Amino acid sequence: MRLILLGPPGAGKGTQAVRIAERHHIPHISTGDILRANVREGTELGTEAKGYMDAGDLVPDDLIIAMVGERITLPDAAEGFLFDGFPRTVPQAEALGQLLAERDEPLDAVLRLAVDEREIVTRITGRRTCSGCGRIFHVRYDPPTADNVCDDCNGPLVQRDDDTEDVVLNRLAVYRRSTEPLEDFYWQRGLLRDVEAAGSPDEVAEHAFAILDELSARS
Ligand code: AP5
Repeated sequence: MRLILLGPPGAGKGTQAVRIAERHHIPHISTGDILRANVREGTELGTEAKGYMDAGDLVPDDLIIAMVGERITLPDAAEGFLFDGFPRTVPQAEALGQLLAERDEPLDAVLRLAVDEREIVTRITGRRTCSGCGRIFHVRYDPPTADNVCDDCNGPLVQRDDDTEDVVLNRLAVYRRSTEPLEDFYWQRGLLRDVEAAGSPDEVAEHAFAILDELSARS
């Protein structure tokens, strides 16, 4: 399946992407994760992206589109993919549409995660991410067994540089301004599906699985 997860920062896209990608045997492609890896490795892309990311602003479309264009040509994406955090602007969505049309690989669905804004700030400011394997935790909702240590790989848990309250508020404003128009963009193309995102991560995953099962049954 070729899927997009759409939703504001902290809605739970990364948390759900891991579950959906595993169940459907497709790669989880997070533009945020790819950018953070570039920042860590000090690549030219990472150096250029870092200032935007730290401020909670979007990295320019041309950089993102080139990065995604390369990523979807890798063999693991031949049978499908799940985008998390991409596209984020109408020009990105149009560029993706063109790339997929050239490959004759249409999207199956865009899953929108809807969560209350106050809940978002609580989710993001409590997030801790494993610096080893990238697993996502939450200090209250999904704490690790031992303080600040990953359950999976024993790596240290860290707080993302852009997870402070003032940067989160800017990320939400940027979402409303630049990314929310994609809801209408994909609704008009008959691809938008709403996933109730207010329950526990497993409950949210069940909602998403039910939608995807229904889509599979129809095709
Ligand atoms: P990115 O990494 O994509 O961040 P984001 O979209 O802001 O989303 P987050 O990763 O913050 O949240 P999420 O929805 O994945 O939530 P999560 O599952 O972690 O982008 C970062 C930056 O990179 C951008 O600001 C931009 O600068 C740049 N960038 C990336 N892509 C770009 C693009 N396409 N164009 C331009 N620039 C781009 O969950 C959050 C917390 O909540 C966790 O602690 C989790 O444990 C908890 N949680 C999750 N689900 C639940 C639940 N159901 N109940 C309780 N807690 C939950």
